[in-house]
Amino acid sequence: MAQANVIDGKAFSEKLVQTVAAEAKTIKAAIGREPALAVVLVGEDPASAVYVRNKIERTTTAGMCSIEHRLPATTDQATLLSLIAEMNADDTVDGILVQLPLPDQIDEDAVINAITPEKDVDGFHVVNAGLLATGQDSLVPCTPYGCLLLLRGQLGSLSGLNAVVVGRSNIVGKPMAQLLLRESCTVTIAHSRTKDLAAVCANADILVAAVGRPEMITGDYVKRGATVIDVGINRVPAPERGEGKFRLTGDVDYVSAAAKAGAITPVPGGVGPMTIACLLRNTAVAAARRFKVSIGDI
Ligand code: GUN
Repeated sequence: MAQANVIDGKAFSEKLVQTVAAEAKTIKAAIGREPALAVVLVGEDPASAVYVRNKIERTTTAGMCSIEHRLPATTDQATLLSLIAEMNADDTVDGILVQLPLPDQIDEDAVINAITPEKDVDGFHVVNAGLLATGQDSLVPCTPYGCLLLLRGQLGSLSGLNAVVVGRSNIVGKPMAQLLLRESCTVTIAHSRTKDLAAVCANADILVAAVGRPEMITGDYVKRGATVIDVGINRVPAPERGEGKFRLTGDVDYVSAAAKAGAITPVPGGVGPMTIACLLRNTAVAAARRFKVSIGDI
């Protein structure tokens, strides 16, 4: 039986970062400084600390300026909002990202919506969500944007295909569905309450798994020849590697799904590297739009 084509998100993301680095150069030549991304980390959540470190490293690799704000876990909402107000007003900051989740005393929606939409490189602000939903230019959430680029790279036109997105979060599921609709797919958003999820998924030419449950989507959910995009990054015990060891796995049961799919993203090395590359791209787009520099489309 033919095995699925493995979609190499790492290689794809490296090419994208090169493109963004060239855009950063164009912007620097026009405005006299590198595009700048400010990242805010509140508290010491270990997974968030790793993400933030990766973001900062990749930002400088792409020839952009990285600004880092680390605040204690006890930070109150007013303090965070005043930092955001300062960065909104600072002409030398092009993109603002507040790493989620935030400590319980802080209202995430209030924080996200305090970031000026022009600098909202996460694309989470209600204005950017609304622009996307109405088909207008916006900053698009990085993970679904990365998935879309992988799908276009794999399939070319997506027009008329049946797409099923499993997961309805504001960060991935909903914007992913909007992007696929914009590509003229027939889109279904499925979730934990969907009846007969396997049958719904088995109708998908494009299956995007963003449920946050390790290896839940097995081969039984996959239509033969479908393109499967696995957004999940789950850390699960791996006793076969020794006591107390872990491994990373997706929301898709890779072995059984790959036996049916036409193409599939691995974990790690699939969607993950695309997310940061798209964050850098959004930073370049945000700078270019604010200063009216032309950098073209991707
Ligand atoms: N936490 C997990 N994913 C994300 C993301 O894409 N953006 C932000 N800001 N926080 C996250």
